[in-house]
Amino acid sequence: MCDIAVTTTSQQAEATDFESRLVRALNESGLLLLTSIGHRTGLLEALAGQSPLTSPALAERSGLQERYVREWLGGMVAAEVVETDPESASYWLPDERAELLTDRGPVNLAVYAQFIPLLGSVEDDVVRCFHEGGGVPYSRYPRFQEVMASDSGQTVLPALFDAILPLAPGLIERLESGIRVLDCACGRGRALLAMAERFPSSRFVGYDLCEEAIGWAREQAERTGLTNLSFEVRDLSDFDVTATPGAFELVTTFDGIHDQAQPRRLLAGIHRTLVADGVYLVQDIHASSHHHLDRQHPLGAMLYAVSLSHCMTVSLAQGGEGLGTMWGRERALAYLEEAGFHDIRVHQLEHDIQNDYFVCRP
Ligand SMILES: C[S@@+](CC[C@H](N)C(=O)[O-])C[C@H]1O[C@@H](n2cnc3c(N)ncnc32)[C@H](O)[C@@H]1O
Repeated sequence: MCDIAVTTTSQQAEATDFESRLVRALNESGLLLLTSIGHRTGLLEALAGQSPLTSPALAERSGLQERYVREWLGGMVAAEVVETDPESASYWLPDERAELLTDRGPVNLAVYAQFIPLLGSVEDDVVRCFHEGGGVPYSRYPRFQEVMASDSGQTVLPALFDAILPLAPGLIERLESGIRVLDCACGRGRALLAMAERFPSSRFVGYDLCEEAIGWAREQAERTGLTNLSFEVRDLSDFDVTATPGAFELVTTFDGIHDQAQPRRLLAGIHRTLVADGVYLVQDIHASSHHHLDRQHPLGAMLYAVSLSHCMTVSLAQGGEGLGTMWGRERALAYLEEAGFHDIRVHQLEHDIQNDYFVCRP
C-alpha cells in the first residue's frame, strides 16, 4: 500500500510538472508569434536603443497603426520582454534583450521566430497529407526563401571566411589563386555572392530549383557588378547522370541535402562533378539518426516540427525520398560514403548549434 501511495504521489508531481511545462510552452509560443510580428513590422528595431516611447510615438516612428502597436506592446510586456512605466504609459526594450532580438548583436534570434507562423500556415495541407499521403509543394510557402536566406545569413555568412572555409586546409589559398566553385541548392545564393566578391580569381555557379530565389540572386549579382558568378534554375534530382564530370574544385551545400527529392542522386552527382583533389563542404542539421538519442537535442522538437511542416514534406511533394531535417549524422555519413566520398571529417562550430559541417574528399 505504502509503495502504491509513493508512486501515486510522484506520478501526480510529474503530471503537475508536465502541465506547467505545457502551459509555459503555450505562453512561449505566443511570444514567438509576437516576436515574428515585431521583427517583420520593424517594431523591435524601432524600440532598440531608444529612451522610453509611448504607443502613439512608437506607432508614428514606425509608420504603423497605433491600435495594433498597443496590443503588440501589451503582449511583449506580458512576456517580460518589453518594459513599461504605467505612469508615463511608455515602453522600452532593454539593451541586453535588443542585442538578441535585433541586428545590434551578433545573432538576431527574432529571425528564427518567423519559422513558427511560416510553417503554421501550411498546417491544413500537412494534416491532409497525414490522411492522403503526398507532400506540400514549395509553392505553398511564399516567404520560405526570404526567411531561409536570413537564417543562413546568420549561420553561414558571418562565419564563412573565418570558420567554415578554413575547415578544409589550403582551401582559402586555392580560392585566392582561382578555382571553380559550385553551390548546390543555393537558395538566394548569399554564400556565393559573398565568396565571389572575396575571391575575384575564382568562378562561382549556383543551382536551385526555385525560380524566385535564383531571380533574387541574379539581381543581386547584377546590382553588385560581380561578373565571376552565375545562377541557374536547375532540378538536381538527376544530378548523378546530368553532372559534368570533373568540372569543379569545390562544391558546397548549405542546408541543402535533407530536403532534396533525391539526396542520394545529388550526392553522387556532386562526387562526379568534383576533380580528383576536389573538396565537398557540407553544412547540414546536427542530429543523431535515432529518435531516442535526440531527447537532449537543444532544438529537437522544433527541428522535427520544421521537418514535418517543410523539409520532409517538400521532398515528398516532388515524389522524393522525404529524408527529413533530422536525418542525422550517422545517415549522412552513410550517404556520403555511398556516393563515393572516402575521406570525411565532421566538425561542429561554436557559432552554430544547429548544424554539423562535413569536409569530404573524393
Ligand atoms: C533549406 S534551403 C537552403 C537554401 C540555401 N542553401 C541557404 O542556405 O539559404 C534548401 C534549398 O533546396 C532547394 N531544392 C529543393 N529541392 C530541390 C531540387 N530538386 N533541385 C534543386 N534544388 C532543390 C530549395 O529550393 C531550397 O532553396
